[in-house]
Amino acid sequence: MPPAPPPETLAAFEAAKGFMPPDEGLALHAAAVEAGQLGLPLLEIGTYCGRSTVLLADAARQSGVSALTVDHHRGSEEQQPGWEYHDPETVDPEVGLMDTLPAFRRTLHRAGLEEHVVALVGRSPRIAALWNSPLGLVFIDGGHTDEHAGADYEGWAPHVAEGGLLAVHDVFPDPVDEFTGQAPYRIWRRALASGAFTETSAHGSLRVLRRTGTGI
Ligand SMILES: C[S@@+](CC[C@H](N)C(=O)[O-])C[C@H]1O[C@@H](n2cnc3c(N)ncnc32)[C@H](O)[C@@H]1O
Repeated sequence: MPPAPPPETLAAFEAAKGFMPPDEGLALHAAAVEAGQLGLPLLEIGTYCGRSTVLLADAARQSGVSALTVDHHRGSEEQQPGWEYHDPETVDPEVGLMDTLPAFRRTLHRAGLEEHVVALVGRSPRIAALWNSPLGLVFIDGGHTDEHAGADYEGWAPHVAEGGLLAVHDVFPDPVDEFTGQAPYRIWRRALASGAFTETSAHGSLRVLRRTGTGI
């Protein structure tokens, strides 16, 4: 088992707004430390306020690679005003829309991990369309519709290097457990069915798969 994050990283993670439970966060951190050994960047889709990013940043620091994190910072469907996961503090009063970029930057600053992270601000498929290099880890935690989760899988999974890891959050095989849709479950199923990925761990709703074949 790779070393746990240092206490200051764990404290920054726990203090950050977000949706990553501590036990799943530790499993993600362990996967990221392992993937970092490939010497390739670790990429997340779904930054929000930087809660899980802190853990990827610490893993990247340990391995001397960069953590990349993709988000348009306007929130997912279920985070919009009137929806269950909405946090009014994330709304920019001047424009009247969610903007989680300032909170994300504060989280990273508090964690002392800014230099290990590259923030990619924009829509995941647009950034993926420009991407052309291998990644040690792809962690999918973006939109929960089939359109968004499917595009994240199709856009980013092809870049997972041989031996690299694909992690998917909010995989709920039973629909009664999942209030925001089962799209993450469906992309996890799709990855397994492709024959290109083999599951290495399951922790809560976090699934980690290794690339053991080609394609997606
Ligand atoms: C569940 S939150 C991420 C939670 C975060 N990983 C954590 O640990 O708290 C999902 C995020 O994905 C972003 N998102 C949803 N669809 C997106 C898309 N198509 N492109 C970029 N970001 C997207 C939302 O803005 C939101 O911040």
